[in-house]
Order: sequence, then C-alpha cells, then structure tokens
Amino acid sequence: MDSIYSKIGPEKLRAIVDSFYDLVFVNEIIGPLFQTDKSLIRDKQYQFLTQFLGGPHLYSASYGHPRMRMRHLPHKIDQVAMEEWLRCMRKAIDTGNNGNDNDTDNANVNANDNNNNNNTTTTTTTTTH
Ligand code: HEM
Repeated sequence: MDSIYSKIGPEKLRAIVDSFYDLVFVNEIIGPLFQTDKSLIRDKQYQFLTQFLGGPHLYSASYGHPRMRMRHLPHKIDQVAMEEWLRCMRKAIDTGNNGNDNDTDNANVNANDNNNNNNTTTTTTTTTH
C-alpha cells in the first residue's frame, strides 16, 4: 500500500510545513515557545513528518530516535497550546489541499487518523476557499 508520504510527495509536504510555521511563528499563544533557529525548526519538522508518514527516515538519520515526548518536555505545552498547534496544522493542510484531487484529500483524512491523538476529537473540517 502506498504511504501517505508517497501520496503527498516531498514538495507538497514541504509547502504544508512552511505554511504551518508561517502560522505558528506569528501565533500569539504558541509563537513565543519557538526560540531557536526558525529554519532549523522547519527542517526538523519536515524530516520528522517525512518519516512519520512513511517516507525515508530523515529525522532519525540526523538526530537519532525521535523521542518526541522527551524533546517536548522542556517546553510549557498545555491544552490550549496543543489545540492551537492542531488548528495551525489543520489550516496548513487545508491550504495545501486547495484545488487538488480526491487522492490527496484521502491522504489528508488518513493523516488525521494517523496522528494517534486520542485526546482530541478529530473533526475534519473541509473548507472551501
Ligand atoms: C501539542 C502541540 C505542540 C507544541 C506547542 C509544540 C512545540 C514545540 C516546541 C516549542 C519545540 C521546540 C522548538 C525549538 O527548538 O525552539 C518543538 C519541537 C519539535 N516539535 Fe513540537 N510541538 C507540539 C506538537 C508536536 C507534534 C504533534 C509534532 C509531530 C507531528 C511535533 C514535532 C516537533 C519536532 C520534530 C520538533 C523538533 C525536535 C528537535 O529535534 O529538537 N511537535 N515543538
């Protein structure tokens, strides 16, 4: 079965990550949490999502085991921050999906299903722009 990564492709994934951080870095709630090199943060997320979605293990090749829980522990991330992060990601994915075919729409839904976030009620909103 094709991976979500192979359905999205590297260019589109990069565009989603870029739109996501364009929203995150200016966000009043979560923007201030991001203090280190902004282009490195974009790169790390791109590499992580590439492997998380079934592509080559770019993140682990550069940084070792993802250990996402451990790497997030130093940051003050509460429920509000989590919801804001997800809101930015949904918006970035919706923007990336603009005018594209059903295949990619399915990849979008699967990506939401695949995030293993049982604390969140995943309402996939389809916005028309
Ligand atoms: C729950 C909301 C989240 C918040 C508020 C948040 C916030 C942060 C912050 C503040 C950093 C450190 C940035 C820096 O170096 O200055 C970070 C790193 C990172 N986050 Fe998140 N994050 C969240 C969820 C996620 C999720 C769901 C993923 C994966 C899909 C993710 C992937 C990453 C990655 C790959 C890094 C870089 C880790 C490293 O190598 O240092 N984050 N995040």
